[in-house]
Amino acid sequence: MKNISKNEFNKTILLSPFGTNDLIHRIQKKLECEMGEIEIHTFPDKETLVHINSKVKDSNIILITSLNHPNFKIFPLISAADTARELRAKKITLVTPYLAYMRQDRSFHEGEAITSKQFAKLISFYFDNLITMDPHLHRFHSLNEIFQIPTEVLHATSFIAQWIKENVKNPFIIGPDIESKQWVSEVARINQAPYVILDKIRENDRLVKLSIPDIEKYHDNTPILIDDIISSGITMLESIRHLKNRKMEPICIAIHGIFADNAYASLQKAGAKEIVTCNTIEHESNKIDVSEAFVEIISKNNLNK
Ligand code: R5P
Repeated sequence: MKNISKNEFNKTILLSPFGTNDLIHRIQKKLECEMGEIEIHTFPDKETLVHINSKVKDSNIILITSLNHPNFKIFPLISAADTARELRAKKITLVTPYLAYMRQDRSFHEGEAITSKQFAKLISFYFDNLITMDPHLHRFHSLNEIFQIPTEVLHATSFIAQWIKENVKNPFIIGPDIESKQWVSEVARINQAPYVILDKIRENDRLVKLSIPDIEKYHDNTPILIDDIISSGITMLESIRHLKNRKMEPICIAIHGIFADNAYASLQKAGAKEIVTCNTIEHESNKIDVSEAFVEIISKNNLNK
């Protein structure tokens, strides 16, 4: 990667509307760009008011936030983008390490919204471009099918593969459903490890049924479950249950650890050997730092102008 001098970035201002965290801090430090000041005031009735305190005229603005808890964040986020536009910022980029609303990619029942499309339309209206990591693409193969702005998709697989290389002996990789195959097969390829994909049927938000093939020959390997998202945790819990029945204690790895409600505690209680996530969503399980991918793409976009 080309070395970036401070001057090449003096027109880029990072705005982090919902506070900073380890990933944002690392990105800002490596880019050596200005961290702008933005405040979000919440009124007693829970309406919000954005205030950008930095001078953003003629600057490239990067609004950076993961979109876990999306409904709480989306209005302030688009209000921030629109305010930056009013203040005559040059280009407004959304960097969202975790992109929400991607799983509802079709109408499963009559009358049901396709929220991924609606969400993409909204973001495309307010932002000039989007950078994210491993969005949940299943029936859509690319973000370009639903976003009307340029998008860049980064991948966590090489970082996950490296963590496994450094921490696990003799890994055997397991994907809990067909959607996970894209990440599982790539990590397995890099690490030259065997893998299997389970069959999953989702009955509802908190109920999945899994079937597992014969994995007896991998009994002496270290089982590693890999998925893109842990949300309610039910997919991982059910996978752990099946593996424990076979006397296997898996390490659970996810790119985006949402851990809704008490999902993290439930996974620990269920007997996961270790729970590991990338730092796209701040959590105590963050053991894989993916900041370098963001730094590389942000600098490439700016230096390309
Ligand atoms: C869905 O196909 C995803 O890849 C994940 O498996 C899913 O989002 C996990 O959700 P939960 O933790 O609620 O089972």
